[in-house]
Amino acid sequence: MAYVITENCIKCKYTDCVEVCPVDCFHEGPNFLVINPEECIDCSLCEPECPIEAIVSEDDLDDSNKDFLEINRRLSEKWPIITEIKEPPSDAKDWEGKPNKKELIEED
Ligand code: SF4
Ligand code: F3S
Repeated sequence: MAYVITENCIKCKYTDCVEVCPVDCFHEGPNFLVINPEECIDCSLCEPECPIEAIVSEDDLDDSNKDFLEINRRLSEKWPIITEIKEPPSDAKDWEGKPNKKELIEED
């Protein structure tokens, strides 16, 4: 089992989650983070760190967000590892809870 990052992180990217991970399996893209589900050891330490509840156990994905397991897997293979908290985007607050952000993921 693994934890994955879901839609609410897109364009918010607070990064509070990255420093607690004992196996450094967070990866950073231009406006979203993902977890490598092959490396995640299911410790659950990161889940409460996200202020907007974007981190979800694979077990708790439903029809509305189940494709994020594959999105996390695929993008973690191309994006670099992030282990230190950084400043979020200046407009992060404006994007909290906004629907239909998936199409806004910048892959490169
Ligand atoms: Fe890392 Fe644990 Fe979160 Fe998995 S559940 S990403 S191992 S902190
Ligand atoms: Fe994203 Fe939440 Fe981490 S917004 S970067 S999953 S703290």
